[in-house]
Amino acid sequence: LLSLSCTIMAGTSLHHPTDPCANGEHSGPAAVAVPSDVGTCGWDAGIPVVDYDVLVNGAADQRAQAIRDLGRACEDWGFFMVINHGVPEDLKEAVMETCRELFSLPEEEKAEYLEAGPMDPVRIGSGFYSVVDGARYWRDYFKMFVHPEFHCPAKPAKLRDVATEYAVKTRDLLLSLATAISESLGLDRGRVYEAMDLESCFQILTANHYPPYAGPDDVGLGLPPHSDHGFLTLLFQNGVDGLQVERDGQWVLATPLPGAFFVIAGDQMEIVSNGRYKSSLHRAVVGGERARMSMVSMISPSLDTVVEPVPELAQDGQGLEFRGIRYRDYMEHQQSNKLNGKAALDIARVQRT
Ligand code: SIN
Ligand code: FE2
Repeated sequence: LLSLSCTIMAGTSLHHPTDPCANGEHSGPAAVAVPSDVGTCGWDAGIPVVDYDVLVNGAADQRAQAIRDLGRACEDWGFFMVINHGVPEDLKEAVMETCRELFSLPEEEKAEYLEAGPMDPVRIGSGFYSVVDGARYWRDYFKMFVHPEFHCPAKPAKLRDVATEYAVKTRDLLLSLATAISESLGLDRGRVYEAMDLESCFQILTANHYPPYAGPDDVGLGLPPHSDHGFLTLLFQNGVDGLQVERDGQWVLATPLPGAFFVIAGDQMEIVSNGRYKSSLHRAVVGGERARMSMVSMISPSLDTVVEPVPELAQDGQGLEFRGIRYRDYMEHQQSNKLNGKAALDIARVQRT
């Protein structure tokens, strides 16, 4: 008996790496696409873990080691887990629950946001997402721009307060990680912050909702392989796995340690670091026994910042890998291309002859 994820793999013509979690060893009930076997695909699949408390409060030698580990995580994976991050569990639960209520509001309450485009500050995408190469993608999402201006729908009533607090706490965490990442590149703590004008960073919160398995006709993926257009993304989920990250040509199912966030390097990380750190290619699969939800908080340079590699990172005679590009233009380009792996980055890549 093959697991559903094997069926998904076999049934699509996407050019993606093979799925280490979708082999016969993990076959369970046919309705479960994502194996819950942590031992094989989760944290001990080698997803790096960063202890935020050590990064901030550790003794000098512990800190130095944590910075090195962080740099290695960004270089090898563009993806890691952060533990002891200080964002309260009850706040995470409250924001997830409030977004769940928002998804279940009557359609007419959400209608105005369904029409919105990628640069509109509040947007809801519903139901059937798209068909690419014969594969179907199922995801409902709800996106809002929360910084420098805060936007949110009027309902559910408590959303404004909960999302404001969540946006502030996760922004502080991500900005603090940005200073550690700058150090890990051998730069001053503030260098990356400065280069991307993170003082006035642009921040988006997104809630994703993926349906449970609903019969053979509904087989599909949740979200096609892509990298994020921003700088750093923080993500947690409702206890249902489904996020997969690419590592050395293989898909690895990301299973979190209790309470951990996933951190995903976006395309601006790849640009600013002159390609030293890679943005993470990732996707979401659907088909679990329960609906899956994920909650995303992403920071990016301000929309008008022209992002370019930090020049100090091009001193090895190789020159700059990327040209400067205004973040707003990059974001529009990536969004208009739909989600197409990491192809959007080519617009900023310096072509060598
Ligand atoms: C995303 O890539 O934006 C979401 C992935 C997920 O739902 O885990
Ligand atoms: Fe993403």
